Amino acid sequence: MLREGIAAFSLGMAFLAAGAAVAADTTADNVPWAERAITRHVDQATLGGKLTQKQLDDLADAGEKLFSVRFTLADGVGRPMATQAITPVKRKRPVKDAFFRTAGMDSNGCSSCHNQPFAGGAGDFAVNVFVSEGFTNADFDTLDPQFSNERNTNHLFGSGLVELLAREMTSELHQLRRDAVAKARASGEEIKLRLITKGVDFGTLKIMPDGMIDLEGLDGIDTDLVIRPFSQKGVMTSLRQFTVNALNHHHGMQAVERFGIRWTGETDFDEDGKSDEVTPGDVSALVAWQATLRPPVQEVPADKAWQEAARHGSEVFDTVGCNSCHIRALPLKSLEFADPGPFDAAGTLRSGELPDQPIYDLALTDWASRLEKDDQGNWLVPLFGDLKRHRIADQRNPALGNELLAQRFVDRDVFQTAELWGIASTAPYGHRGDMVTLDEVIRAHGGDAEPVTKAYKALEENDRSALIAFLKTLVIE
Ligand code: HEC
Ligand code: HEC
Repeated sequence: MLREGIAAFSLGMAFLAAGAAVAADTTADNVPWAERAITRHVDQATLGGKLTQKQLDDLADAGEKLFSVRFTLADGVGRPMATQAITPVKRKRPVKDAFFRTAGMDSNGCSSCHNQPFAGGAGDFAVNVFVSEGFTNADFDTLDPQFSNERNTNHLFGSGLVELLAREMTSELHQLRRDAVAKARASGEEIKLRLITKGVDFGTLKIMPDGMIDLEGLDGIDTDLVIRPFSQKGVMTSLRQFTVNALNHHHGMQAVERFGIRWTGETDFDEDGKSDEVTPGDVSALVAWQATLRPPVQEVPADKAWQEAARHGSEVFDTVGCNSCHIRALPLKSLEFADPGPFDAAGTLRSGELPDQPIYDLALTDWASRLEKDDQGNWLVPLFGDLKRHRIADQRNPALGNELLAQRFVDRDVFQTAELWGIASTAPYGHRGDMVTLDEVIRAHGGDAEPVTKAYKALEENDRSALIAFLKTLVIE
């Protein structure tokens, strides 16, 4: 950095001396036409405690900009010697093509994909991502599903609320486990613990008096009882973790908190000539913007017949059993979003690693007042989901069981319930985005959803149409 600064400076001086125009260095951050997207890094040290409205707005604005730009070489685009893996992995030799639609780098900015109906939104089939772990076989030039899992881009509206729900549920499950371990020890008897949080049932744990735990009965959750609400597989913990993954995978932009000196011993792990590409403050800005994105809403259609159909369809949604997985709303105790959060692993900034944990109070957003509350004062988050993984394909309904690679030790035909808020704004459907109508993806549900799918197929045409009319009111404003 320092050397470049001096070079730019002396270049400027040379031009001045020759009487030419100033600032010939188009990577300098002080000219309006500079070929760089990041003109000023956000300093994490300026963030601490509960941010004021102004601080939060400024941070989110910086995040929106980072999400919407097209990154350049001057910013640090490129990872010639690093793979797309979510832990730092070196290549044996430099990658041949810096950009490659399959193995990545696959795009130029977050909003290249998350753009429907606007930035922060979902993506068309054309911007699908080919997800591979990138530890071995990091480079693949084929769409053959033996090499990667093809995933469609999901939207990020309301994702701060989703992460808060997951954190509260995780905390509650951990408390249940702690209490049961203590009880088993005190009583000297084995305990069968049912893991229910916010009404969602994650199966059972068998706890022995000596503290040993039998995990056999767990359902739809990892063995550490951390709910991972992100990715369609339900394997990513936080917006922060995902953002650091995405920056490296899609753009070769490496966050200091994972690829920097602390964990890799290097400041330029990807060997692209740029050190310390993304600061913790930059990641915080991206997180703050995503976390404060307003949640989707249920719209009242102008058309009277549609209104009537949607009202009826909303009832059908429950009677046919869609709400057994797509739970209409989950209750949330607090809108205070601490960043970093409590459940990330090393390589993502963690709570406790900062002297004064920054908190983004989502109550400060212009949409918070619109959330309903239940009679115990909880905010109701209308996500139409349960943050749980389910088996969603079987031999008779194989369409959603199309992946061949296991990810993070989750079976190949198991996915997290898709949140249906905003569904009217985010076609195409299914984790691969290869289904073009709601009816098509509903009929494709197999596995645990098989009885409900059967009931859906058996509906009168009028009821089925009403159900679609209802789903078509769940929009991103
Ligand atoms: C090339 C397309 C593409 C780009 C570029 C991209 N994403 Fe994504 N994003 C996806 C896809 C596809 C998924 C779903 C991944 C999955 O299910 O495994 C996703 C999922 C996410 C999620 C999880 C959402 C959820 O509800 O599960 C977050 C958060 C996210 N992206 C943030 C970002 C950020 C931040 C950037 C920029 C640094 C970015 N993405 C760039 C395609 C993209
Ligand atoms: C057993 C749990 C379960 C039940 C019951 C269930 N779903 Fe789903 N649903 C899922 C899962 C899991 C996914 C994600 C599937 C995938 O993409 O792999 C999903 C995906 C969807 C999608 C696509 C979302 C998107 O963004 O592409 C729609 C629409 C949907 N479900 C509607 C319904 C409706 C309507 C019903 C009732 C007829 C229903 N589901 C019943 C679990 C369930």
